[in-house]
Amino acid sequence: MEVKLARKLGFCFGVERAIEAAERTLAERGGEIASLGEIIHNRQVVERLAGKGLKVISEPSEAGGTVLIRSHGEGPAVLAELAERGVEIVDATCVLVKRAQRIVEELTRDGYRVVVIGQAAHPEVRGVCGYAPDVVCVDSPEDLDRLPRGGKLGVVCQTTHSLEHFGEMVGHIVARGYREVKVVNTLCNEVKDRQAAAVELARSVEVMFVLGGKQSANTRELARLCAEQGVPTYHLENWDGFRPEMAAGKGTAGVTAGASTPKWVIEEFAARLGEFDPAGQSATGV
Ligand code: F3S
Repeated sequence: MEVKLARKLGFCFGVERAIEAAERTLAERGGEIASLGEIIHNRQVVERLAGKGLKVISEPSEAGGTVLIRSHGEGPAVLAELAERGVEIVDATCVLVKRAQRIVEELTRDGYRVVVIGQAAHPEVRGVCGYAPDVVCVDSPEDLDRLPRGGKLGVVCQTTHSLEHFGEMVGHIVARGYREVKVVNTLCNEVKDRQAAAVELARSVEVMFVLGGKQSANTRELARLCAEQGVPTYHLENWDGFRPEMAAGKGTAGVTAGASTPKWVIEEFAARLGEFDPAGQSATGV
């Protein structure tokens, strides 16, 4: 079948930098380093690096030796605990996440109550929220009753959210009549470009495949945006998730991938889908 790739897809510079830092440190130390949380939301990459000696720990209390801070970053309390334990830190926090952390500190210093639009449980958001006291984290209109009743608000957003969601949430916040709302755009352009390219592609194909880890927030957002265009959309980790009925009776398929999906996963998927013959398959829908 005909396969079209999104003009922007796959690894972003923040993820590339984190993987390079892990590989360089593993080579220098001869293995035996730990990542605080999985380095990226991609099972294949985590398994490949585990084979080279990168183990995954989930709490700072498990840390010893050398610890890699992934691109999502960490809050100051976690970094302080690691420092206290005498751990050597390899900091691969993405520069855009660092910028969001710094802005949260600056807003607090300037007297704003910080509001983070994001998923409270997401590691990046948990870290960013640690840079100011009493941060309010909201991600849907139902969460807005948690906002303070008055005062000055300083609003930032999870880097991987869509511009559309950020804009809608800011609109709801402003409509509540605060004296002052300072909004700082902390969205990541890498994500924005991938989202725009995915939407453009989804409008011109009969089925969309969005490749990436099931835990990857930016991949899930890509899948949501594609489905919103009215095209059957499948979020798969790799070719193993493909079933013939997904592409049955379709002539053109689009492929995009989240910021933590390696090139080889995309290339393998596109090549095998290109060899797939949709004629004669029975479609079962989304
Ligand atoms: Fe950084 Fe954007 Fe990637 S925030 S980690 S460049 S998705």
